[in-house]
Amino acid sequence: MKFFIDTANLAQIQEAHDLGILDGVTTNPSLMAKEGIKGEAAIMKHYETICEMVSGDVSAEVLSTDFKGIVEEGKKLAAIHPNIVVKVPMIKDGVKAINWFSENGIRTNCTLVFSAGQAILAAKAGAAYVSPFIGRIDDSNWDGIELIAQIAQIYSIQGFKTEVLAASIRSALHIVKCAESGADVCTCPLDSILGLLKHPLTDIGLAKFLEDAKKM
Ligand code: G3P
Repeated sequence: MKFFIDTANLAQIQEAHDLGILDGVTTNPSLMAKEGIKGEAAIMKHYETICEMVSGDVSAEVLSTDFKGIVEEGKKLAAIHPNIVVKVPMIKDGVKAINWFSENGIRTNCTLVFSAGQAILAAKAGAAYVSPFIGRIDDSNWDGIELIAQIAQIYSIQGFKTEVLAASIRSALHIVKCAESGADVCTCPLDSILGLLKHPLTDIGLAKFLEDAKKM
């Protein structure tokens, strides 16, 4: 399973990159706004900076919701860097645009996916990635991890090449469950990635080793 970081914060991207486990980055308009990135030029520059920091794919989301607008915006984003993946919402014009991008050599990440039916449509249209939002599904009393397993199974049976990119991760346990359920990629906040490090017995064991080392 690949590890992406779900942020537009450069310090957090650098920290995950320095750990040596980072395979890519996903962003969305909320995450960009959180960093205070405003205006087309600043947005483009920020994506370029992220692409220079990491060697893997970087998802950049379109803001248009009509076919023509999504295509125009996606072309501009894709021109920033070869690692840019155009993030397109799961709406009718989005599916149409994903198909257009696929036929024109531009990779896409279909976002805001909450059902297996939507995931099938994204794969049929030729999305490189599909992003089911598992945390938000959990928030609405459904099982996000179950959806990851269902989509992974469907893609495997049907031979779809689209990668399952588990998004809206809220904890280290989510990451473990995504790995267990067949996600190809997990995009996570830095805290969830660092949460994987934690175990009280590791801390207790290390303290004891360091204490005993004084007697060596
Ligand atoms: O990038 C999309 C997704 O990861 C958003 O997560 O926490 O806002 O539901 P969240």
